[in-house]
Amino acid sequence: MPVCRDIATLRDTLRGGEGAIGLVPTMGNLHEGHLALVRACRQACDVTVVSIFVNPTQFGPSEDFGNYPRTLDDDLRYLREARVDHVFAPAVDDMYPQGRDGQVTVSLPALANTLCGASRPGHFDGVATVVAKLFNIVAPDKSFFGEKDWQQLTLIRAMARQLDMRVEVVGVPTVRESSGLALSSRNIYLSDDERRRAATLNRVLTWIKTAVEEGCRDYSSAEERGSRDLAEAGFDVDYVAVRDAERLCPPDAETASLRILAAARLGRARLIDNVGATI
Ligand code: PAJ
Repeated sequence: MPVCRDIATLRDTLRGGEGAIGLVPTMGNLHEGHLALVRACRQACDVTVVSIFVNPTQFGPSEDFGNYPRTLDDDLRYLREARVDHVFAPAVDDMYPQGRDGQVTVSLPALANTLCGASRPGHFDGVATVVAKLFNIVAPDKSFFGEKDWQQLTLIRAMARQLDMRVEVVGVPTVRESSGLALSSRNIYLSDDERRRAATLNRVLTWIKTAVEEGCRDYSSAEERGSRDLAEAGFDVDYVAVRDAERLCPPDAETASLRILAAARLGRARLIDNVGATI
């Protein structure tokens, strides 16, 4: 499994390859959620490339860039076992030779400034920019993203469409623990007691989904009750929101399907989750 540590080597390695190239972008510290993306990619593509890059431009000044878990040796072991063809693990200077301030930024304000973007200014510009760069470096036919980060998936889809990128963006369902808690690299910040309480997040979203599918249209009351239930379980709630699944705006006459999303802090961990609902 070749591991390329810079852009030029990766390009040389991939050039001349045949068949559909699939890309799975990650920040490493891999778990079963990431491996579900790898499996989906291997099934749909002839060549699977996984990138591991903790992208500084998507972290705010008070966020955990410095402490983000970096576990390259374990990650490479998992990826070898999963029969990945190429790993791309560049250094920050190789990705941002102009530095952070000199870098062109891809910005999708309508999707980037709502929900998680409201409390993480600049985060989704950083995500869109690094993923655009990865698409240009690898030139994949398909790229795989988890539904767990629904806003991110929606934003990348919109970016690829609006900038006429030739990549197909594929969403993969969220992988969960048996309690319903979505797997996340940030779950390591949870104590045993917090981990038990963390399951409330998915329970609240599932409760709202059921209510909506049974005909509830008073979304604000459902959001308020959801926030209250989370606060009672010890969460510091950022938002609980019923939104148009594609445009991420409050549902309106053009809404075809809904997404119910939440973000809340439990101890040191900021957890996010979402579920779909049909109307
Ligand atoms: P990271 O948090 O490492 O996640 C990489 C991919 O794994 C994302 O597409 C994410 O949605 C997916 N993923 C994480 N947990 C999952 C789960 N429980 N089930 C299914 N998929 C899951 O997201 C990022 O990195 C970065 O923002 C990135 C896109 C790599 C850009 O830097």
